[in-house]
Amino acid sequence: MATPFCAAAAACRISVAASPAAPSLRPRRGVVAVRAEAGGGINPAIRKEEDKVVDTVVTGELAKPLTAYCRCWRSGTFPLCDGGHVKHNKATGDNVGPLLVKK
Ligand code: FES
Repeated sequence: MATPFCAAAAACRISVAASPAAPSLRPRRGVVAVRAEAGGGINPAIRKEEDKVVDTVVTGELAKPLTAYCRCWRSGTFPLCDGGHVKHNKATGDNVGPLLVKK
């Protein structure tokens, strides 16, 4: 089963930008640039004991016709979205939201 946001690996490569101003880090077509937060990355607290947080979804086994997966790393039910992105967006001015997977 593929990870929620990396089912098409070639289209989902993630590059972590040390400096958002660096010209070589401008997003290219098919590449998502993720800016690391000061002091340790984009994941504030989810499953930090793991070397890499990877989840797999078999779309045919989803319980609901539409399932929301977290992309903000603030969900208390990660990898599922619990709406925590709303509080994060209000606090930071960010615009993140979930990945919606259809069965
Ligand atoms: Fe993270 Fe909704 S809680 S995208």
